[in-house]
Amino acid sequence: MMRLQKGFFRGMFAVLALACSASANSQGHGMDESDRQAAKRLATYLCSTCHGPEGRSEYPLYPNLAGQQAAYLEAQLRAFRAKTRGDEEAHDYMWSVASTLNDNIIIALAEFFSTKALSPGKPGDASVIAAGKALFEKGDTSRKIPPCAACHGAKAEGLSIFPRLAGQQGQYLSRQLTMMQLKLRDSPIMHGVIKDLSGEEIFSLATYLQSL
Ligand code: HEC
Ligand code: HEC
Repeated sequence: MMRLQKGFFRGMFAVLALACSASANSQGHGMDESDRQAAKRLATYLCSTCHGPEGRSEYPLYPNLAGQQAAYLEAQLRAFRAKTRGDEEAHDYMWSVASTLNDNIIIALAEFFSTKALSPGKPGDASVIAAGKALFEKGDTSRKIPPCAACHGAKAEGLSIFPRLAGQQGQYLSRQLTMMQLKLRDSPIMHGVIKDLSGEEIFSLATYLQSL
């Protein structure tokens, strides 16, 4: 991770937060065109420094936002703001970003990123991908692991609050599954589903999903 640059990002964020404070004061009204403009500015000058142009990430631990489900993006920005995503990366990188976002800007940011074109999947080892695909589609009934596809969609495209996983950065996915197992990331729905996944299974799931 780009730890040395944290101060730089904080400083830049302070400037942008100030620039957007006019719309940040509009809490309580419906999302409107000024929120859309503020969200576009934030996305272009702040979010893109880590999440890539239009949310197509170039770093394995920074998730793609482009093409992600809008309702999921909204829920996550609220979760960072409420600090229920409590792992170290969330704390170091997203808490301060999310703390200054009001509900209207959150909705506008989610709309912005969800409508952007996806980044292409990355190839990986065929046998690892096959193992991940089998677990994703069928689960493992003997160990009470449900098929991931039941919630995340047959092609991992996601729906509403169920995130798209297809084409997501593999290292980011592995890390999130581990953080949810450790309950550092709060997710009542996922905790039970993944509690018994081995490190190897997490790796094959992430390799499969990244390849889509
Ligand atoms: C300094 C780097 C940095 C900046 C700037 C940044 N992010 Fe993030 N963001 C991250 C990291 C790192 C994560 C992964 C956190 C984790 O591992 O828990 C993340 C996670 C997220 C997630 C969760 C994605 C998912 O799939 O669950 C969303 C949504 C998000 N960021 C939105 C934004 C938005 C919107 C902005 C701009 C307003 C922004 N981020 C600015 C680094 C950044
Ligand atoms: C019962 C529905 C359900 C099932 C089954 C399920 N998930 Fe999820 N998953 C969710 C929800 C909902 C979230 C969003 C987190 C939240 O809001 O709690 C999520 C979040 C995730 C995330 C975080 C994505 C991100 O961008 O940060 C990953 C990774 C994930 N799931 C992988 C899996 C895998 C792998 C399986 C199968 C072993 C699986 N899920 C099965 C409902 C489900």
